[in-house]
Amino acid sequence: MSQVQASPATPPRLAEEADVVSVHGGKPLVGEVSVRGAKNLVTKAMVASLLADEPSVLRSVPDIRDVAVVRGLLEAHAVSVTNTGTDELTLDPRSVKSAHFAEIDAHAGSSRIPILFCGPLLHQLGEAFVPDLGGCHIGDRPINFHLDALRAFGAVVEKTPAGIALKAPHRLTGATVELPYPSVGATEQVLLTAVRAQGVTELKNAAIEPEIMDLIQVLQKMGAIISVETDRTILIEGVDSLSGYDHRALYDRNEAASWAAAALATKGKILVKGATQLELLTFLNVYRKVGGEFTVTDEGIEFRHPGGSLRPTVIETDVHPGFMTDWQQPMVVALTQAEGRSIVHETVYEKRFGFTDALNDMGADITVHKEGIASITRRVPRRALEQAAVINGPTPLTGANIRVPDLRGGFSHVIAAVTAQGESVVSNVGIISRGYEHLWEKLEALGASFELGS
Ligand code: EPU
Repeated sequence: MSQVQASPATPPRLAEEADVVSVHGGKPLVGEVSVRGAKNLVTKAMVASLLADEPSVLRSVPDIRDVAVVRGLLEAHAVSVTNTGTDELTLDPRSVKSAHFAEIDAHAGSSRIPILFCGPLLHQLGEAFVPDLGGCHIGDRPINFHLDALRAFGAVVEKTPAGIALKAPHRLTGATVELPYPSVGATEQVLLTAVRAQGVTELKNAAIEPEIMDLIQVLQKMGAIISVETDRTILIEGVDSLSGYDHRALYDRNEAASWAAAALATKGKILVKGATQLELLTFLNVYRKVGGEFTVTDEGIEFRHPGGSLRPTVIETDVHPGFMTDWQQPMVVALTQAEGRSIVHETVYEKRFGFTDALNDMGADITVHKEGIASITRRVPRRALEQAAVINGPTPLTGANIRVPDLRGGFSHVIAAVTAQGESVVSNVGIISRGYEHLWEKLEALGASFELGS
């Protein structure tokens, strides 16, 4: 029986606050889920509202912890954030002011987004402060590209024990910035800074993820002049001021891919309402090669296990339009059920296979090679980031006590527990609510059986 209920001993107040879940696995997930705006766009669009001299309206905002963190940071800077509909926020920056250190520090460690406040705050206030940054434990996640870009615009950057203090002695000026790697965050940093800088900015080797294209649409609605060339070059003509925007966020394709993998791993069938094909082209190719079936409709995309066996595959994570790093963890769970040897190369982060230990505890046969596998021709060779996971399948999974390491790894652990025969106790699941909206309600609707505790 499905039950989104607290364990009697330690009941969490809300499902999202649960920290432990007992899962009774072995049942396919069947049904439908809806996905709202992308975590990795919504949070950035919220920051973009800071650049305006009037309110903005953002729609399809998911109820996730990362949105709450950015809301807290905006409110700390006296931006008024109001719920004006079930999933709509109105963000009014007209009283923006510097935040107290304690208010910013309260959010330190819980998100990577504070770094993106720099450009907008430098334009609005002439100064900005960034606390120590958090995010998932998936590697070093340095911010050198961000700081180099901000310096190129004329910002003065001072590192202090508590964080980074930035000042704009004069109006920031457009710059030529060439990123050493098409970093998503650094591309957003340049966009959010260049739109109000004096003069033209040329950004080379930019990231071109769909969430970035959606952010560009937000900025264009605000009055920005941005052109995207075909060779990862983005040109931005700075303007003196920007107006508010009214925007419906692009759907969360990472959540959609997660549910797609869950359908495959559990031999189920899930209609992901709100998903569209274009942003998932690369994922859908891999899904099909593995043997997964899907149907695209106006309503969304239905993902199905074909019955019979799945095929192994070789995947290399990459920047867009490659196979996203955020898709590999749930797909690895599905690949434990494929007939034969699969290989997943992770080229974006250096520590994104930590979640596979728990899968092995459940009966999977996964070996992580720190140096990658030399016999495979690498399309994107990246220094130390050469690890590969070799997955031999199919291996039946059985319930175990496991601990969630990070957001995407956490979703994968829950899906592995739903796939496994018997009971699993999965701890530290609270982290999953950073990026997956109403996970437990959705799992219940899909027929999963579990109890939540704290
Ligand atoms: N990098 C640097 N220096 C920098 C910035 C990045 O060396 O200044 C390196 C990173 O260490 C990493 C690579 O560049 O090896 C890629 O990092 P990127 O900047 O592209 O990632 P990000 O902006 O920090 C966003 C998403 C991630 C997603 C990546 C890749 C947000 C809030 N986060 O991170 O999402 O995996 O892009 O697409 O947008 C997630 O949703 O779980 C998540 C981790």
